[in-house]
Amino acid sequence: KLLLLGTFVHSKTRQDLDFLHKAGIAIDAQGKIAAIERDAQDLSEVKARLLGKLGWDEAEVDVTEAAEGQFFFPGFVDTHIHASQYANAGIFGKSSLLDWLETYTFPLEASLKDLSKARRVYSRCIRRTLSHGTTTATYFATIDVAATNLLADLCLSMGQRAFVGRVCMDSTDMNPAYYRDASAADGLEATQQTIDHVRRIDPGFDVVSPILTPRFAPSCSSEAMAGLAELHRQTGLPIQTHVSENPGEIQLVAQLFPESDSYTGLYDKCGLLTPRTVLAHAVHISEEEADLIALKGSKVSHCPCSNTCLTSGSARVRWMWDKGIDVGLGTDVSGGYSHSILEAARQAAMVSRHVAMGIEQEKERERVKLTVEEVLYLATRGGARCVGLEDKIGGFEVGMEWDAQLVTLGEVNDEGDVHDEDDDHGFVDMFGWETWDDRVAKWLFNGDDRNTKKVWVKGRLVHRRK
Ligand code: GUN
Ligand code: ZN
Repeated sequence: KLLLLGTFVHSKTRQDLDFLHKAGIAIDAQGKIAAIERDAQDLSEVKARLLGKLGWDEAEVDVTEAAEGQFFFPGFVDTHIHASQYANAGIFGKSSLLDWLETYTFPLEASLKDLSKARRVYSRCIRRTLSHGTTTATYFATIDVAATNLLADLCLSMGQRAFVGRVCMDSTDMNPAYYRDASAADGLEATQQTIDHVRRIDPGFDVVSPILTPRFAPSCSSEAMAGLAELHRQTGLPIQTHVSENPGEIQLVAQLFPESDSYTGLYDKCGLLTPRTVLAHAVHISEEEADLIALKGSKVSHCPCSNTCLTSGSARVRWMWDKGIDVGLGTDVSGGYSHSILEAARQAAMVSRHVAMGIEQEKERERVKLTVEEVLYLATRGGARCVGLEDKIGGFEVGMEWDAQLVTLGEVNDEGDVHDEDDDHGFVDMFGWETWDDRVAKWLFNGDDRNTKKVWVKGRLVHRRK
């Protein structure tokens, strides 16, 4: 059992953060929040209140205090990341999507059938994302079953909550001969093997869950896509894919599937648009496609860093929200260079400003800009909604699970100065007069993993910064 004491910050609504000061949260042996107390005189009063309320003995709890200048924040949710591409993060040259896949991506992914190489790439990806506060990751692995199952094993042993997708790609049009499923049926059979494996290692899918993963329409036959949709109907498992990322890709979909009226419409016809579906990108979707996504309750993973790296375009988050679509953030490593959701959140803020600069009407221009509160919502509760875990993670409420990070911005010294020369607090230089809103904004725009001291998943300490 755990007791966390100090200041807690989390999203209350999409627009507002809630700050709990002189507060405490008690975590039970299952990793769930058992009680929350706030606004005490001091931390020893909070502790006494929590112990009294729950009838717990002080000896049975492990106490973590956030010092002045530190706060607890929900763990980040990465709704779209290719663990298999982690070794290529930062390497994308001048490519755009289709030539990037051919030049950089397919060769790396294919090479991970070597399990010792897969282990190196996957374990580093998990370690690094955990250290940046990502407590839940929605992963694409590769077509190789053994390597995909290894990724699931590693997430479980290292303690990262994860959705692990064995990638389905059977089309002979898009995929190279050295890296594709032999047939739609083969791809489905391989997917089933990963589902069976994950059920063996984590029977309730409590920490690791399989996710059905048709790579994207150009890589898949209609038969493969319809087969995965059928598997979803039988199992209720979530689905992830890419949609409308890049103009060349959209043209290719129109060529390969001339009978479908749109990219999104094609997925719908195959039965892939469900409330458990996460569609990465959706940069160039039409009004009708956005309406269809909203109608079906499917989610969008916004990957701003990737969309800029691969010059895909600028997704319109405010517009998707206006349509009623749930949106989360994805790093999309290695389309995106960064494995950090904090970086994705600031890039989301920047991309929304680029979208704004293209709008003439002043009121609308102001409206499309995303605020600090909004991008941090995308990084936590918004992402949790996308992956169907909004009742478990993304915020601090009784009954939710303790997926969180302890953030430090420096500790106040005797002079009341928050910056400590001897300590390594990253790029966040505090002066002591900042409001809590200022502090959070400085963390968002100047912070990095040096500010993430400790990370927990389901109450288990999974990372601690030395
Ligand atoms: N579309 C199909 N495959 C991929 C991929 O690996 N990354 C990105 N960004 N888009 C894709
Ligand atoms: Zn992707």
